[in-house]
Amino acid sequence: MNKEAYIQDAMAQYEKVLRQQIARCEKMQEATIPKDFSALTTITIGLCGGDGIGPVIMEQARRLLEKLLKKELDEGKVTLKEIRGLTIENRMAKGEAVPAEVLEQMKACDVILKGPTTTPKGGTMESANVFLRRELDLYANVRPVRVPEEGIDWMFFRENTEGEYVLGSSGVEIPGDLAMDFKVITDCGTKRIARAAFEFARKNGKNQVAIVTKANIMKKTDGKFSKICNEVAKAYPEVNAEDWYIDIMTANLVNKEMRRRFQVFVLPNLYGDIITDEAAQIQGGVGTAGSANLGDQYAMFEAIHGSAPRMVEEGLAEYANPSSIFKAVEMMLRHIGLVEHADKLEQVLQLCCETEKKLVVTGTKEGSTCKDFAEYVLGKID
Ligand code: IPM
Ligand code: MG
Repeated sequence: MNKEAYIQDAMAQYEKVLRQQIARCEKMQEATIPKDFSALTTITIGLCGGDGIGPVIMEQARRLLEKLLKKELDEGKVTLKEIRGLTIENRMAKGEAVPAEVLEQMKACDVILKGPTTTPKGGTMESANVFLRRELDLYANVRPVRVPEEGIDWMFFRENTEGEYVLGSSGVEIPGDLAMDFKVITDCGTKRIARAAFEFARKNGKNQVAIVTKANIMKKTDGKFSKICNEVAKAYPEVNAEDWYIDIMTANLVNKEMRRRFQVFVLPNLYGDIITDEAAQIQGGVGTAGSANLGDQYAMFEAIHGSAPRMVEEGLAEYANPSSIFKAVEMMLRHIGLVEHADKLEQVLQLCCETEKKLVVTGTKEGSTCKDFAEYVLGKID
């Protein structure tokens, strides 16, 4: 193909992306009634093992749910539904980020607990996470990080359906010359994540939200994100909206004097991805942090980390930390209104991960195994 033909193809691709995103904006503007997850009388929880260390940590998550929710499971109020097929082998064989029949099964559940899935680097296969977040419109990626002894109590609201992520498999390339990816920020998409962050601040007595962008450089997209967050903030006069740039915020989080002043963060997708790994590391590692992907109709809960293929290759899968998925379980229980169970689990996890620490998982052979740590946690639940 000659260069001119590549340019024509790239322009056609750009038009396609633009039209798709405009259609998405229009759809977002249609009024829908959000599902009240806490008012469900019967609840189906879908369980997806995922790849790499996914099945290892998910096996323990299932045991945890079976113990915590014994009564609800016996009474039929809660059903656990195993969803197979969300594996890299099946996805590659079908050539789909999430095979259609797997997506249907996931949609039939009220909430989903998902193990990490492997994302192939390069190629055309989209990440299962990105696909699910978009298809189920899970726009708020909510990630708590706490280090009580340091006074750190952070809540991150990462926009989950836009930024570089949603178009990350739609870029263009002129071989030998260049490659370009696209980034999209919409008014509607920003308003809803900003509202989620400010509502959380209001309901939880937090008086500050940090809006984190690189609006000095990414003038159109991050400029819009910052402007709209500040507009939304006007409806929350008791909450201070602070604009920060992502580079200095990354530095602030390793500044011990500075970091404890932050409370709630709202950020575009990619910055949110990066900074929540940094924050999790401050808490004790990515294996210690849970994540909620929330939308108006669906909700999916997972660990914040990936499938750790390196750990599997090195024979360390059984040393994977289940704390991340256990924290996701806690968030899920809270979301579906099983608050007493969530509180109990929160208390047990604080004991096992923060105060008593009788067993510690390090991801290496020096640490405890996933199963032993799970036994420790389960043993604290009567
Ligand atoms: C996360 C993960 C995912 C992401 C990967 C596994 C695709 O890093 O949930 O933060 O990049 O969003
Ligand atoms: Mg990440």
